[in-house]
Amino acid sequence: MRNKVTIVGSGNVGATAAHWIASKELADVVLIDIVEGVPQGKGLDLLEAMPIEKRDSAILGTNDYADTANSDIVVITAGIPRKPGMSRDDLLNTNHKIMNDVVGKVVHHSPNCILIIVSNPLDAMAQAAYKMSGFPRERVIGMAGVLDSARFRTFIAQELKVSVENVNAFVLGGHGDTMVPLPRYSTVAGIPITELMDQATLDRIVQRTRDGGAEIVKHLKTGSAYYAPSAAATEMVEAILKDKKKILPCAAYLNGEYGIHGLFVGVPVKLGAKGIEQIIEIKLTPEEKTALDKSATAVKELVAVINV
Ligand code: NAI
Ligand code: 2OP
Repeated sequence: MRNKVTIVGSGNVGATAAHWIASKELADVVLIDIVEGVPQGKGLDLLEAMPIEKRDSAILGTNDYADTANSDIVVITAGIPRKPGMSRDDLLNTNHKIMNDVVGKVVHHSPNCILIIVSNPLDAMAQAAYKMSGFPRERVIGMAGVLDSARFRTFIAQELKVSVENVNAFVLGGHGDTMVPLPRYSTVAGIPITELMDQATLDRIVQRTRDGGAEIVKHLKTGSAYYAPSAAATEMVEAILKDKKKILPCAAYLNGEYGIHGLFVGVPVKLGAKGIEQIIEIKLTPEEKTALDKSATAVKELVAVINV
């Protein structure tokens, strides 16, 4: 049986995720959008690239949720992106309405799917989707930590002039200004980066990681990042479809883990065929725990506004 992945929202992140997924031949892809013509055009264009790529992924663009039926995974990227001067939180009410429109239809046609939420503000949108879907928490996952960690890894590799393949890094917490990069758990070929660079350098790249999304928005002016975000969502899709049991930082609904109750926050999880198969609790220093709690408080304030 071929895997089926639906991507809701055929804009920059959605279409680029379709590109990565199809070109890795991970699944057949359905691209859906509210705008008529865009998913059809992008879907057909991508399908016509497959003979060149030597991939047999089928790609369908549509406005009809019936075409998404029985998807294994649904990636939700529908929503507005930010523009210069906006924070992710400024998107809250608009994207909550879009989430309201989308999640019920997705769940109706794919009651057993795993949802990967991308729309911002990420943790609040994941919480909204979780509540709307009625799915168990294992099947609703927010994408942010893989992206934020990839940015951190990029800057570490640049700074130390080493291969990105040597660099592992963890970023926890909400996907916002209060995210918590964890230098202690970030390594180059197994060596903690705290051994490899001075505190001032570390502080600089931690801050650049926190500002990573805004840095791209400032360049683009009309939207936000999409190559790295869609690659991050694709890594999560692959871990699930191939049942890799991969440990990745993802937004998960916490039920007491890390002392946080009833809230989506970024933590290390094991991703496999069932979705989140384990939430990994790592030991945090008092300072790291305080930073994580501060980040959780910021998420709590947002979810209170939309009452989810
Ligand atoms: P975009 O504007 O290029 O695409 C969004 C698409 O959603 C558009 O094609 C639009 O027509 C569609 N859409 C809007 N309402 C819809 C509805 N009710 N049903 C179906 N489709 C609908 O935006 P982009 O750059 O793709 O970003 C999408 C979202 O992802 C934004 O909210 C952005 O902030 C977020 N994002 C989150 C990241 C993360 O780390 N979690 C990283 C990058 C983006
Ligand atoms: C980012 O971090 C927009 O949240 C998105 O690039």
